[in-house]
Parts: sequence; C-alpha cells; structure tokens
Amino acid sequence: MPADPAETGRDILARADALARHSDSPDHYTRTWLSPAHRAAAAQLAAWMREAGMSVRTDGAGSVIGRYEGATPGAKAIVTGSHFDSVRNGGRYDGVLGILVPLACVAGLSRRGERLAHAVEVVAFADEEGARFQTSFLASRAFLGRFDPALRERRDAGGVGFDEAMREAGLDPEAIAANPRDPATIAAYVEVHIEQGPVLLDEGLALGVVTAIAGGTRHRVRVAGAAGHAGTVPMAMRRDALAAAAEMVSAVETRAKAAANLVGTVGLLEVKDGTGNVIPGEASFTVDLRSGEDAVREAAERDVFAAFDAIARRRGVAVESRRTHAVRATACSPRLQEALAAAVASLGLPVRRLPSGAGHDAMVLAEAVEAAMLFVRCGAGGVSHHPAETVSAGDAGLAAAALGAFLRSPGVPAA
Ligand code: GLV
Ligand code: MN
Ligand code: MN
Repeated sequence: MPADPAETGRDILARADALARHSDSPDHYTRTWLSPAHRAAAAQLAAWMREAGMSVRTDGAGSVIGRYEGATPGAKAIVTGSHFDSVRNGGRYDGVLGILVPLACVAGLSRRGERLAHAVEVVAFADEEGARFQTSFLASRAFLGRFDPALRERRDAGGVGFDEAMREAGLDPEAIAANPRDPATIAAYVEVHIEQGPVLLDEGLALGVVTAIAGGTRHRVRVAGAAGHAGTVPMAMRRDALAAAAEMVSAVETRAKAAANLVGTVGLLEVKDGTGNVIPGEASFTVDLRSGEDAVREAAERDVFAAFDAIARRRGVAVESRRTHAVRATACSPRLQEALAAAVASLGLPVRRLPSGAGHDAMVLAEAVEAAMLFVRCGAGGVSHHPAETVSAGDAGLAAAALGAFLRSPGVPAA
C-alpha cells in the first residue's frame, strides 16, 4: 500500500471496487450475510489484513478481525472497523470504507515498522444491514456476546433457516456469540463511514466529526381486510387492505413531517397474492422511525400506531404490528470527538461536527466502550444505499491521514 495520501486514497477506492465484485447478483452490488460472495469478500479482507502485517481471526458470526500489536504485546486495542454486508442494490462504500481506511493506516504503520502505545484492531463486521434475515447489528452484537438467540428461528426469503445458513458457511450457530470480546481489552472504538447524506458535500468539506447517532425503531405491520372480486363488490361494501395501508403510509409521512429532528419511512409494502382484478385482502409494510431524541421518536411512534388503529376501525380492517428493531440515540464520546477534531485540524482542514441520521455499528460498541465516528464526504448529491453512492480518492486519502493522526493522538484513552 502506498505512502502518499492521494495514492492511498486511490488504493482504497480500487480495493472497494475489487470487493464490490463479490456480489450476490451479477447485475448490481448486493452482499448478504454468509452468501458465497460474502464469504469470498471475507477471505479477501483477511488476505489484505495479513498482507498489512496483522494477525487475523474470524469470529462466530463470520466477522474478520485483524490485530496489529502495539509496542507492548497484549496492550489494549483501539478497535476500528465497519460492516461488509450491504443493502440490496447498495453502494460499495457503505461500511467497506470503514474497513479499508484503517487497513491503509495499519499497512502504513507496518511498512514503517512503527508500533503504537495501543494495539490496533480492524474489525470487518459480517452483518449490519441485516438484509438476509431482517436483523440489525447482528455482527457487532455477537462480537460483544449480545446476540439474541430468538433470531435463530428466522428464515431468509428463499426459506433457508438461520442455523442452516450458518452451517453452510462453516460456522456453528451454537457458538455465534461464544468468546465475546471483553470491553476491558478495548481502549476505544472509532468508525470511519461515508456520511450517506449531503451535508459535507454542500459545505465543501471532506471530513466531519460525528456528535451523536440517531436512534430508531422498525416495525412490520400487517393489515387484514377482505379479498373480493374487483368488478362485483360495491365500493361502500369493501374492506380493502391496501387502501387502508396506503392511508397508514400517509399517516407516517404526515406525523414525521410534523416534528423537527424526526424522519419516518415506509420502505416496503406488499400485497399478499396481489392481482390487478382482486380487492387486496392482506397488505403488510414496514415503518422506520428515527430521531436524535428518543422522546421525539417515542411520541411519534405512539401517534402513528394510534392513527393506524383509528384508520383500521373506520375501514373495518384489522391491523397488527411487530417491532423488529429498536436502538436508542447514541452520543459519541466527547473525549474521542475532541481527539478526532484535533486529528482533522492537524491536516489543515476545518472541523465540522454533525449528527448521524443513519445507524452504525458504533451504536452497539458505544454500549460497552467509548466510541466515536469520522464521516467522509459522500459525492453524487450525497446519495447512499444506492449504486450511485461515491467517495473521491482525495477524501479517502484524507480520511486515512486523519485516522492515522487520531491513532497516535494523546486524547485517546490510555492503553
Ligand atoms: C443502516 O444503514 C441504517 O439503516 O441506518
Ligand atoms: Mn447502510
Ligand atoms: Mn453502513
């Protein structure tokens, strides 16, 4: 790996391109937990970590963990990393950038034979998006021994069970969270991530220091009405599940727009056995609500579900919902924010602090250790979770330089 920052950035982007070729689909970039493409990406990451002078292990969830020892063997580690699974038809830098940037830093340390006061561990988390089993933060939770065994009951869209998928990938479902990482061995967690929004781009800034990460909940909602012939049932006599669901989707949008610091999304809507000439009998959809303030999100959640009940009563349909995900808003460590700000400033760049609207593995790590995040400008209008997502080589190089400065910084907790 090269020494010059611009070249380092180009190398990071070339690796992201190479990794994106490990995709579940030949047409677009999708990498779901434990698919053959996912395991091939894991093997590639492990090879790069070894090449960069790290010892490498794979944990029970399939995450790849590289360790570069500090001056004193066995010292506490600064853990840094992100995820290498993706959403369907996603962007190649979401998650992956947070693995490749620290990999470049460690390669630099190793090339110079430099040892820091801490060990540096780069963790490539196997599953954050959870596209395959509708999970979230599966790998970072397993890393800390906080895996929820109820997830083992799940099946993927193709009917493959959770345990079966693990066994097919050579992993033991009984041992998914065995040997949890002791937080006492971690000095700090820092995650580099593409911003996934337009703020830094709009302000002409390459890097940002994250102040806090919005909390969020996801629900799966099912509406049951009465199916019937599209030509024969008078409008007044219908109990159309999709028409009711459409009104509920609107209620989510209206409520989310009514508060600052709140966003609400229905990203999936399905009609069971839907056909053009049949009145929909059953519809289901997801609700994703997020806010930097838990009280704001919780109030919206109450209002949205009260609105669903009222709509269902008025339309004579039944509605039920199941919460599939919940995470509280997370403040980043003030001390680590300062250290990141100093690292950014040491490159002659302005320090911009901003909150994260997207969820990140740092939220789980922050439950156990001091955690912080460095954002990298997202090109193409700030679009993410989309194939048009992009990062420039210059910005990737600056991120590596800033992370390198952070790893040496006096503001990081003692080893
Ligand atoms: C993770 O990408 C999220 O949904 O925020
Ligand atoms: Mn994502
Ligand atoms: Mn991500």
